[in-house]
Amino acid sequence: MDVLIGLQFGDEAKSKITDMLAEKYDIVARYQGGANSGHTIYHEGNKIVLHLIPSGIIQPHTKNFLGNGMVIDPYGLMQEILEVEKYIPGARDRIYISENAHIVTPYHLLEDIENLNSIGSTGKGIGPCYRDKVYRQGYRVVDFIKNNLVIDPIDLLGKDENDFFEFEQFRQGTEFMKTLNVVPSNWLREQEGTILAEGAQGTMLDIDHGSYPYVTSSTTISSGAATGLSMPPQSVKRVYGVCKAYLTRVGNGEMLSELTNEIGEKIQKVGREFGATTGRPRRCGWLNLDELKDSVELNGVTDLIMTKVDVLENMDTVELYSDGEYHTFPGWEKSDLSDTNLIRFINFIEKKLEKKIDMISVSPEREGIIII
Ligand code: IMP
Repeated sequence: MDVLIGLQFGDEAKSKITDMLAEKYDIVARYQGGANSGHTIYHEGNKIVLHLIPSGIIQPHTKNFLGNGMVIDPYGLMQEILEVEKYIPGARDRIYISENAHIVTPYHLLEDIENLNSIGSTGKGIGPCYRDKVYRQGYRVVDFIKNNLVIDPIDLLGKDENDFFEFEQFRQGTEFMKTLNVVPSNWLREQEGTILAEGAQGTMLDIDHGSYPYVTSSTTISSGAATGLSMPPQSVKRVYGVCKAYLTRVGNGEMLSELTNEIGEKIQKVGREFGATTGRPRRCGWLNLDELKDSVELNGVTDLIMTKVDVLENMDTVELYSDGEYHTFPGWEKSDLSDTNLIRFINFIEKKLEKKIDMISVSPEREGIIII
């Protein structure tokens, strides 16, 4: 099993890389998170945004697994499957759901929306759902699908009547889920073929290793793949680490190299840095090599990929934050390896990280990849 993870605050344009790599894999599996992630893929001229379904779904030969480490909103999943099937008929037949994954209930959604301002969460019920899981009072897929659990909205009496609407949607979602491939937790271990585990969010949002408390509620780093997919740790072979040529962050929390000036605005505009899940503008800044080095080591990255290099094209100067200070480089005109200014930028990063960059991504299209 190989793992692909984000080395920063999420939004490293990982799904384009997953989609490209998925050609070589039989199974693509999500091991943590839920609909807080937004994975945008361009397929035959159509923009498809995935939240729960692994990005492998675009490749017709793949099976796609939602592992036990995930938290799933059934109505959201239903809507996503119906949307994806407009472009990829029969997609649901290639989706497999672990019966040990946890369910995001309307209570979780409502609570998360009420708490929106503290962490700046996506409002998708992630924190409350994981809290209940760890507190041993959560609901798993199996509880609804096999044990026919029913959640009674009676506790919500006295609240807004829209809350009842959410329960009706939830009921529809769980009925729909019963028609899908719900499989035992160890399903992946029983499969033949190559596996790519797809991380969501990024290392700096990891519950243990990120900028706590401004983090998400799951293990986003590569080590989470084993437990979140019910696989032994030795099964992890390659770790693809993805970072952007700069830094972005949505939600609250420290961001040392943030640019609150017109350069930051330019990067935001050119890089289309708006959240795929919430539409919120992403805060932009220079690449922080001190944090990146730690992420590379923590995840045991074997293959390093840098995305969105083209976004920094045609800037007079580009900066990097390293060893507590800023380093200034002349900008590049073209994002290809004939431009010596780009090479200089890449060399500095490789030296600091003590790690070669294996690929750079220079456009949103699948073809826009340069192998170094
Ligand atoms: P939650 O995961 O919705 O609880 O949000 C916790 C923090 O993680 C907030 O700062 C979110 O903006 C951030 N976050 C969650 N999912 C993503 C993602 O997929 N990309 C980037 N940031 C995310």
